[in-house]
Amino acid sequence: MCIRLAGQAAQIAFGRRIAEHLRPPCVIYLRGDLGTGKTTLVRGILRGFGHTGAVRSPTYTLLEPYEFGTMRLYHLDLYRLGDPEELEYLGLRDLLDDQSLFLVEWPERGKGLLPAPDLTIRIEHAGAARRLDLTADGPCGRELTSRLCGA
Ligand SMILES: Nc1ncnc2c1ncn2[C@@H]1O[C@H](COP(=O)(O)OP(=O)(O)O)[C@@H](O)[C@H]1O
Ligand SMILES: [Mg+2]
Repeated sequence: MCIRLAGQAAQIAFGRRIAEHLRPPCVIYLRGDLGTGKTTLVRGILRGFGHTGAVRSPTYTLLEPYEFGTMRLYHLDLYRLGDPEELEYLGLRDLLDDQSLFLVEWPERGKGLLPAPDLTIRIEHAGAARRLDLTADGPCGRELTSRLCGA
């Protein structure tokens, strides 16, 4: 386990800490049941990068793009993905470059169609709080886990 977070504010604060160490390119998968706080964590990361506006999960549009200077952040939510073609249509491969970050909710629904993760964050209920597990699959993931979860 990396960390236990009690309450929405703690979830957002941890998202802000992720943003401090998160640099493109990086693909992050966010796994966890409905209501575990995936979107809340993304909101914290976006706040950390300076986004002050609303953050809604792109449940119907699948993808919401953000820009921070030369860096681009793509928030995906594949919960309602029906036809894999919808994902092909988004042209993810063209969006993925060394200036981009991907944060993907429900990556299991886009299996085989998504870029491989550098980091997987698993969120589980822990009573009223949440337990987060981080698994590094690439360089950017290793950097984040060592910074945020200790050695
Ligand atoms: N660490 C936490 N502890 C308690 N409640 C949390 C925590 N993180 C998020 N929540 C709450 O869980 C609910 C669902 O959050 P949301 O981010 O929409 O989940 P998801 O995107 O995984 O479906 C929200 O009411 C949010 O405030
Ligand atoms: Mg969500």
